[in-house]
Amino acid sequence: MRKNIVAGNWKMNKTLQEGVQLAADVRQALAAAGAVKCDVILAPPFIHLTEVVKTVGGQVEVSAQNCAAEASGAYTGEVSAAMVKSTGCTYVILGHSERRSYYGETNAILAKKVRLALDNGLKVIFCVGEVLAERESGKHFDVVGKQLKEGLFGLSAEDFAKIVVAYEPVWAIGTGKTATSVEAQDMHAFIRKAIAAQYGVQLADDTTILYGGSCNGGNAAELFACPDVDGGLIGGASLTAEKFMQIVTAF
Ligand code: 13P
Repeated sequence: MRKNIVAGNWKMNKTLQEGVQLAADVRQALAAAGAVKCDVILAPPFIHLTEVVKTVGGQVEVSAQNCAAEASGAYTGEVSAAMVKSTGCTYVILGHSERRSYYGETNAILAKKVRLALDNGLKVIFCVGEVLAERESGKHFDVVGKQLKEGLFGLSAEDFAKIVVAYEPVWAIGTGKTATSVEAQDMHAFIRKAIAAQYGVQLADDTTILYGGSCNGGNAAELFACPDVDGGLIGGASLTAEKFMQIVTAF
């Protein structure tokens, strides 16, 4: 069954103490809100993971923002999928556009990371999305189709069932310029169709596809009302419990 999800990607924000406080604030706000119509995930920096897992106490799932493309060994500064899993967190975000553009992560590297994450029992939030020039030249469907094919479509159907796809148009990330609900729906429908062609209609229908890019309390309800938008991957608006909860409660 397809799940609605709202995930907060804190990126490189918050000290450990601030992050624990934010996680506690989210936990408290969720308890006060009662039943919500989505699963909630928090994705803090690596060093916060263990403490945030303890702080949210099972109310919320916790995700890393990345993991290494190698299993273990002499890779100074890297954090492996097994290490991420050992913190108690259950997800890892892979393929974020900031990782692709600033750290040179190609689809081939990402396919390796996805394999290691799944082998270590993590679920994956896999990001796809085009840059502005690609959209303006009408190449956005091709770009996203290639990211899906090369990053994910080598997986078996059983493994693909552990993937959440996040469509994040790069031109909408941190810019305050969100995709319209029509643009988001069109791309999400395209992604679901591509999954159906690869894995069949049932698995495509069960796959959660999130939208990310300047999503906030003012636009979340309209985006989430689109038939193929199953929630959001939230950057800036996940950094306070109040703003994040406006999105969590937008379904
Ligand atoms: P913003 O919500 O800050 O635009 O960031 C989106 C994002 O990149 C989430 O991964």
